[in-house]
Amino acid sequence: MATRTALSGAFPLGSRIDEQGRLEVGGCDVVELAREFGTPSYVVAEDDLRTRARAFAAAASAAGRPDLRVLFASKAFPCTAVLALFAEEGLWCDVASAGELHLALGAGFPAERIVVHGNAKSRAELSAALAHGVGAIVLDNLGELERLAALLGASGHAREQPVLVRVTPDIRGETHEKISTGQADSKFGFSMLDAPAALARVRETPGLDLLGLHAHIGSQLTDLEPFRRAAAALAALGPVPAWDLGGGLGVRYTAEDPELPSIEDYVAAVVGAATEHGMGEAPLMIEPGRALCANAGVTIYAVESVKDNVSHWVAVDGGMSDNLRPMLYGARYEAHVADRLGGATECVLAGKHCESGDVIARPVLLDDPRPGDVIVTPATGAYGYAMANNYNGVPRPPVIFCSDGDARVVVRRETVEELTARDVG
Ligand code: LLP
Repeated sequence: MATRTALSGAFPLGSRIDEQGRLEVGGCDVVELAREFGTPSYVVAEDDLRTRARAFAAAASAAGRPDLRVLFASKAFPCTAVLALFAEEGLWCDVASAGELHLALGAGFPAERIVVHGNAKSRAELSAALAHGVGAIVLDNLGELERLAALLGASGHAREQPVLVRVTPDIRGETHEKISTGQADSKFGFSMLDAPAALARVRETPGLDLLGLHAHIGSQLTDLEPFRRAAAALAALGPVPAWDLGGGLGVRYTAEDPELPSIEDYVAAVVGAATEHGMGEAPLMIEPGRALCANAGVTIYAVESVKDNVSHWVAVDGGMSDNLRPMLYGARYEAHVADRLGGATECVLAGKHCESGDVIARPVLLDDPRPGDVIVTPATGAYGYAMANNYNGVPRPPVIFCSDGDARVVVRRETVEELTARDVG
């Protein structure tokens, strides 16, 4: 007997359990979606993405900074439809490779609203950024600074290239080690000791226009204090025209997660910290990824097999090829049978891949899942599609946008033929 009548905050905005006890996302019956588009699939509530983009804009206005530049960290969900939606909503875009730059431009972001990141940018990537005239390049290290200066000198670029200097402020947010970036021993950015020399070098280099300082201290941060400390660290480096305080606001993955700061709280905190340090009028940027898209998406799977030994194993037709987060970060997910939410059967929800670590959620209470049932895991909109892979020759799932009861495929399912499409020998 399904027990759940209300959904946790991990689900997309507007999701509901209908009168028959079936999950609806973006007005679409999830079991019908599975029938029509197959499984596994990434299902995205389009309105959720828009609502969150607008929540950032509204929060910026409420904090007295309607000019706050909100950059979508495209690595979180690098697909054209998602990027196009955010471009339309007036966001800026953070890219971290030539591939993400290509995606962002193709999705309609004007180059001047694109900021280029990376701790190992190639010559080709820097050249592409210059050629397109991106809004800013975030400098990570001295070698890169000199490489960029040389490229500018060689090509005689007419316009000055705005740059941000990324620093590692030696601040640790409470998050998984693999997604913490602000600590002193980090591969990202200039150390606080080296930052003054980097700023001086940018100021004296023809062709480079110092836009300001950048810090990104980590991801899935559940407390606002580290953001305030990052702002204080930037302030210690002296006045610059602008600040980019990175991304990192955490989201809710399961019903058990503690209450998190809202978009409004977060924006108020970063704006407040900037104002406190004399940057109340200066251009200010933030780079949310997860907070814009994680909760907009759910993944749907079909149960393929059920077995008992020490545990009750429920195996689905996806796993670590569509969601690496449980395996990489020990991330926890909710799971439900899509037409019988809740339940009391303690299960291990396993994927189809050939290793024991391929477990999506454990333990999870489900309503006696059987082969053919549709399983849904919420909060897979960020870093799911982004980190999908073809392990075990599994084609990557499609992305289905749902809104007002209409579903449309925005990325089609990969085919097995595509697995050999690049083989040339
Ligand atoms: N800005 C920079 C420079 C970043 O490196 C990142 C994320 C962001 C912004 C966006 O962070 P967000 O707001 O999404 O936390 N694969 C990991 C997350 C890696 C984050 C990498 N950088 C995961 O699935 O948790």
